[in-house]
Amino acid sequence: EEAQRLRKALLEWYGLNRRELPWREAEEDVERRAYRVWVSEVMLQQTRVQTVVQYFHRWMSKWPTIHHLAQASLEEVNELWAGLGYYRRARFLLEGARMIVAEEVQFPKTVSQLRKVRGIGDYTAGAIASIAFKEVVPVVDGNVVRVIARLKAVSANPKDSLTVKKFWKLAAQLVDPFQPGDFNQALMELGATVCTPLSPSCHSCPVSVQCCALSISRADSSVLVTDY
Ligand code: ADE
Repeated sequence: EEAQRLRKALLEWYGLNRRELPWREAEEDVERRAYRVWVSEVMLQQTRVQTVVQYFHRWMSKWPTIHHLAQASLEEVNELWAGLGYYRRARFLLEGARMIVAEEVQFPKTVSQLRKVRGIGDYTAGAIASIAFKEVVPVVDGNVVRVIARLKAVSANPKDSLTVKKFWKLAAQLVDPFQPGDFNQALMELGATVCTPLSPSCHSCPVSVQCCALSISRADSSVLVTDY
């Protein structure tokens, strides 16, 4: 099956090429893992990986668990966030941590539970649920939209909310049922490092044989799905 081949190729590539990042380190405690994924994904929404690594280390040495974070003040959080921008996200992390610590016995585990937490939207909920808790759900960010658009040669305006819905549906059909977190991160990583907006490195792409955009642009170079 085609989706199955895609999953296999992508996961194999990810296994060999995944970057060692602090939030990807093996972490047995599932709540700790979820907390680290949450903080990293919120930081990654606005900032490149290299920069996030330093902020992430500083954050985790100050607030190693969600319980530590829940005790922090907004001033402390904003101080550490300085330079990342969008302070609202830092405040949401703090408010979310306080909510979870106050109301929940356990860290929320599913997309529908996670969506109820302050500041956690579809993207962050999907990332935490799939990466930390292995829920079989997709995650769609700008990179994933571009990768899937090219794979399926979908032409659409990425700023349109209907387009975004469509890509969540497409991504849901692709996500690997056994390794959803790795699969989602592989798609994001592929978009960030290989399937880049301009001059993608199709020669080193693990799924180039299945890429509709690539086959089209070979046949007719005027039809390129690259503007995502
Ligand atoms: N970009 C945002 N989150 C990511 C992740 N978990 N892996 C790769 N790229 C990302």
